[in-house]
Amino acid sequence: MSAPVAKRRITVTDIKGRKGSGEPLVCLTAYTSLTGVLLDDEVDLLLVGDSLGMVLYGMDTTIGVTLDMMIAHGKAVMRGTKRACVIVDLPFGSYQESPQAAYVASARVMMETGCAGVKLEGGIEMAETIRFLTERGVPVLGHVGLMPQSVNTAGGFRSHGSGAAEAADIMTDAKAVAEAGAFAMVIEGTVEPLARKITQAVPVPTIGIGASPKCDGQILVTEDLVGLFSEFTPKFVKRYSELGRQINEAAKAYAADVRAGRFPGSEHCFGVKSKKK
Ligand code: KIV
Repeated sequence: MSAPVAKRRITVTDIKGRKGSGEPLVCLTAYTSLTGVLLDDEVDLLLVGDSLGMVLYGMDTTIGVTLDMMIAHGKAVMRGTKRACVIVDLPFGSYQESPQAAYVASARVMMETGCAGVKLEGGIEMAETIRFLTERGVPVLGHVGLMPQSVNTAGGFRSHGSGAAEAADIMTDAKAVAEAGAFAMVIEGTVEPLARKITQAVPVPTIGIGASPKCDGQILVTEDLVGLFSEFTPKFVKRYSELGRQINEAAKAYAADVRAGRFPGSEHCFGVKSKKK
């Protein structure tokens, strides 16, 4: 009998090494320890995304998410996982001001959560910051195309790169992010032909969301794919289950049982002999 293979954490070097391997990177978001436990064996990378502001806290955008919120959720996901590479988003306002501010925020995230690295949104304007961080031991996952933290200056949540000028800018951004040292990058909400071309052009893995099947990997918000977050369903989401509906049905059945005196039964009470079946 062979000994069980020891589980070890997937590293950012493993993720980077998957470029061109033909084996797509499987990535999802996780915000809680329980979700971490449920997803750990199925994915390569878990992102503690600042989308938690909208999904868990009911915010309209990600702008109000704080560093303390990201650290609390990052710690929870790390507690629930043993294998996945866990990356935590730097929230709006914690890194845009200067490379030094980005370093201070990243150091807190890495020291307090134990995660493998941080994600930040931005293209060529963030290249200096990405270089500053990676040269000082902070692995960075880039994020180009639709950048939710810039929703107020970018004309809302819309797909990017259909016009020639915008496509050229996103290509420049992706090359700058890779050149600056990011170990991989998310391409979000970007027209398929451009996301495909970026994937061919950059030497690090691209992880698509609303991008292209030709990206080196895919990511979705977990609550979207299990049908828990139904405020709106973007075109790029595929629902694999309807947990939101199931939770509502369970709550209705519980409420009916309590109101009718069917719950708790004797089998749920201490000091009462349950009837033999
Ligand atoms: O915040 C997030 O969850 C993200 C993913 C959608 C890539 O950035």
